[in-house]
Amino acid sequence: MTYLVVNGPNLNTLGRRDPALYGTLTLQEIQDRITRRGKELGVDLSFFQSNSEGAIIDHLQQNGPSCEGIIINPGALTHYSVALRDALADLSVPIVEVHLSNIHAREAFRRRSVTAGAVSGQIAGLGWRGYVAALEYLVNESSNS
Ligand code: DQA
Repeated sequence: MTYLVVNGPNLNTLGRRDPALYGTLTLQEIQDRITRRGKELGVDLSFFQSNSEGAIIDHLQQNGPSCEGIIINPGALTHYSVALRDALADLSVPIVEVHLSNIHAREAFRRRSVTAGAVSGQIAGLGWRGYVAALEYLVNESSNS
C-alpha cells in the first residue's frame, strides 16, 4: 500500500520561500508530518521532489502504475505543463493535486491548472495540511474500493 507524494519545482526551498504564502515548514518537515499520519493509517509513502519536468514524468511513469494513489504538488508546472497532464492522465490510480497556497485567489496565470483535469480532485490553500487531507482521502478511497 504505497502512496507517492510528488513535489515539483522550487518546493525544495520551502521554509525560506515566501513563508506568508507557503508557510514556514521545510519540505522535510512537511514530509515528516505526512509520514506520521501515514503510520497512523498504516500505509507506506514514497517521496519525490524534482525541479525538472522530465524527471517528474519519468518518476510517475515508473512508479505510478504500481502505487495505490498519488499526491502531487506540481508547483508552477501546474499552470503550463501539458506533458505532465498527459502523464497524469495516463495513470488509472486516484490522484490528488495539492497546493499550499490558494491558487484561485492569486495572479490570473495561477488560477488556471492544466493538470487539474487529469486528477481526481484538487486541494488548494490549506497549507501543509492539504497533503494530509489528500492522504486521508486516498486511503479512504482505497479501503472503499
Ligand atoms: C504552488 C502554487 C504554484 O503557483 C507555485 O508556482 C508553486 C507552489 C503551491 O503549492 O501553492 O510553486 O503549487
